[in-house]
Amino acid sequence: MLRSILLGVGGYLPEKVLSNEDLEHMVDTSDSWIRERTGICRRHIAAPEELTSDLAIRAAQEALKHAHLSGADMDMIILATTTPDDTLPATAVKVQRAIGMTGGFAFDIQAVCSGFMYALATADAYIRSGMIKKALVIGAETISRIVDWTDRNTCVLFGDGAGAVILSAEDKAGTNQDQGVLTTILRSDGRYADLLRTTGGVSRTQTAGTILMEGREVFRHAVQNLAEVAHQVLENTGLSAEDVSFLVPHQANARIIDGTAKKLNFGPERVILTLPEQGNTSAASIPLALFEGVMRGQIHRGDLLLLESMGGGFTWAGALIRY
Ligand code: UT7
Repeated sequence: MLRSILLGVGGYLPEKVLSNEDLEHMVDTSDSWIRERTGICRRHIAAPEELTSDLAIRAAQEALKHAHLSGADMDMIILATTTPDDTLPATAVKVQRAIGMTGGFAFDIQAVCSGFMYALATADAYIRSGMIKKALVIGAETISRIVDWTDRNTCVLFGDGAGAVILSAEDKAGTNQDQGVLTTILRSDGRYADLLRTTGGVSRTQTAGTILMEGREVFRHAVQNLAEVAHQVLENTGLSAEDVSFLVPHQANARIIDGTAKKLNFGPERVILTLPEQGNTSAASIPLALFEGVMRGQIHRGDLLLLESMGGGFTWAGALIRY
């Protein structure tokens, strides 16, 4: 059967770093509160002239280099973002132009912090159907642009960045020992749409709005939904938690990540953590964690990776990939 193989990974973080100490001068907060309640120490913030597409292009170029491919080899780009450059066109076509890809097609996906997982599952479906052979899948955000920098409940959490992967169609045996994407699960439940939202949007206010979150409620659902989806992806493949080399979670809160890891009986050595240095980069956090994991020499070829995310919508998702 056709499988989507991860040929390359890439990532990019803007130069400017905003520390917890910097935030102490902006809102009524403290380094110790932020570290204890979230696990975050610092985050990267895009320069005013730096757009989501700029971050995405850097990550895409890095992933192409890692895969020894060029933009012209790609059949499709899916870019997950909540913070597109413009209302139209899709940010993905700007990446398409920049990497010299003149064939195929490119589009954006919006599923907030689960955006990359939705993009990955969609690209995998295109590949397994035989429609395309090579896909560039990106999560990119300048989420700092929709943060209310006077709201201590949210402004300490987020950071900017982009991560990308290259997927390639290969014929495999169809067993759970195959390399590539083994299974994906996407979920959403619109009954919780108001718990994580913006104060406005294009249609409602003709603005982008800023983030509003009922943190405690989101936390409660995240712990429950992530454990559920992790067990479901294992069940789908007949693999067990012991088979998994690394958990590659969405990086929102260290306590959520620890909770999920404990439920799977994973020690910290089996969890890829970028949260202390990057904060929550929304759709970029999982591909950035993949990139970091590979670059730090933690993730090796053949490792089984369990990816999981939870975000506004609510949306949540899981995937098992043999790298
Ligand atoms: O990526 C999408 C998914 N997002 C998430 O998964 C985020 C989920 N939620 C969380 O990570 C946590 O709920 C937060 C980190 C957002 C908040 O942590 P918490 O332990 O749930 O705190 P809380 O909201 O219950 O607030 C506890 C106290 C409050 O004070 P009172 O009312 O008890 O006096 C807050 O006002 O902490 C206060 N507080 C702060 N204090 C210092 C809230 N934010 C801050 C802050 N600095 N930055």
